[in-house]
Amino acid sequence: MQDVEELPRLDAEYLQNPHELADRLRREGPACPVLMPDGMRVWLVTSHTEARSLLTDPRLSSDGVYDRLEYQRQLAEGKKIEFSRSLAAHMLNVDPPDHTRLRKLVTKAFTTRTIARLRPRIEEITAQLLDDMSGSVDLIPAFALPLPIMVICELMGIPPEDQERFSGWSNAMVSTAPPEQIGAASGAMAGYLAGLTEQKRSAPADDLLSALVHASEDGDQLSVPELIAMTFILLIGGYETTVNLIGNGVLGLLQHPSQLAALRADPGLLPNAIEEFLRYETPNNMASPRYTTSPVRVGDVEIPAGEFVMVSLLAGNRDATRFPEPDKLDITRPTGAHLGFGHGIHYCVGAPLGRLEGEIAIGRLLERFSHIELTVDPSELRWRKSTQMHGLEALPVRLHP
Ligand code: HEM
Repeated sequence: MQDVEELPRLDAEYLQNPHELADRLRREGPACPVLMPDGMRVWLVTSHTEARSLLTDPRLSSDGVYDRLEYQRQLAEGKKIEFSRSLAAHMLNVDPPDHTRLRKLVTKAFTTRTIARLRPRIEEITAQLLDDMSGSVDLIPAFALPLPIMVICELMGIPPEDQERFSGWSNAMVSTAPPEQIGAASGAMAGYLAGLTEQKRSAPADDLLSALVHASEDGDQLSVPELIAMTFILLIGGYETTVNLIGNGVLGLLQHPSQLAALRADPGLLPNAIEEFLRYETPNNMASPRYTTSPVRVGDVEIPAGEFVMVSLLAGNRDATRFPEPDKLDITRPTGAHLGFGHGIHYCVGAPLGRLEGEIAIGRLLERFSHIELTVDPSELRWRKSTQMHGLEALPVRLHP
């Protein structure tokens, strides 16, 4: 076995350009051991075919995976992340039958038809944000970030005055921040959500959180920790990724003027362009961690039982065996089977909402401004320090009416 010190590390350099290392590793094989930024050894999957196959393989489990990771980290580094337990009982952290039960409670709220009813409100929020922008702006804090936060917080029933605090905690939790910071953020969010669910129990409103509280009371289906964890995963899943879809999509267009011109000339291309943005700079680099419950052969290697597996959706989406000329943004290419929303039983439950927000945001931005230019050299753009999320820290542009 390779010496741990010799393994490729998903370090700060990787986070700034994950495609380069992914390409190199894919050439060596579909899965190989790497070190996460905190030193944890995991198997990284970079091929499209293997990514799809492993995401539907029952020998890969999500059950209690965060507890396992925490334990492993403590062993490896003497570090301790007190990831609040009340946030861990969510659907990305369990296998069937628990997963099936939890997911069923929210699928109805996220069907394409139900989500379409949110269109007028999403249009309204987008128009408000666009009204406040002119000249030189950073598109992330001015546009890409507030839109999905406002949408998901309204849908769930988070009061507007709490939205900023909430996004601070969420940011810390998906980052590579020191363990104490992640622990503090998750504890604060768990405490906040416990209070909010109590409030919704005594004074229900017309929002998803109130509906979930009632689902738990009427059908005895959700325990209190499950309810808190469900709220947590919907809030985090509902915006961290959508911010990146908007930011990465706009950047892609600014770096490919011919694609931007084609989209301006034919706005009917927008739905396919959104799929291509999800493929080209995948907002969610890694699927959430899984572990093997028995040995699994991937290409020429056998991953032993009890090992952590990280499927890089971003790497699979740049696999030339599935997408010819994968490093080219082409908003007209067939994008079927891209991995931007994952694959298998954990396929993104909020995909209809993510798509709708992306379409409205990017479509209206292009309508409102006839010319948008980057005001920094692309080499100066920084990507967020997260192995999970692939999104820009800032996107400074100049807007021309
Ligand atoms: C462009 C926006 C979005 C992207 C790129 C995205 C991406 C993903 C991906 C890749 C997964 C699978 C993770 C895995 O298998 O480990 C996932 C799952 C999930 N997403 Fe999204 N997502 C987006 C928007 C949303 C929205 C708007 C919501 C909710 C309001 C949401 C809620 C969830 C939930 C709850 C899961 C877990 C599903 C399960 O375990 O069955 N996502 N998302």
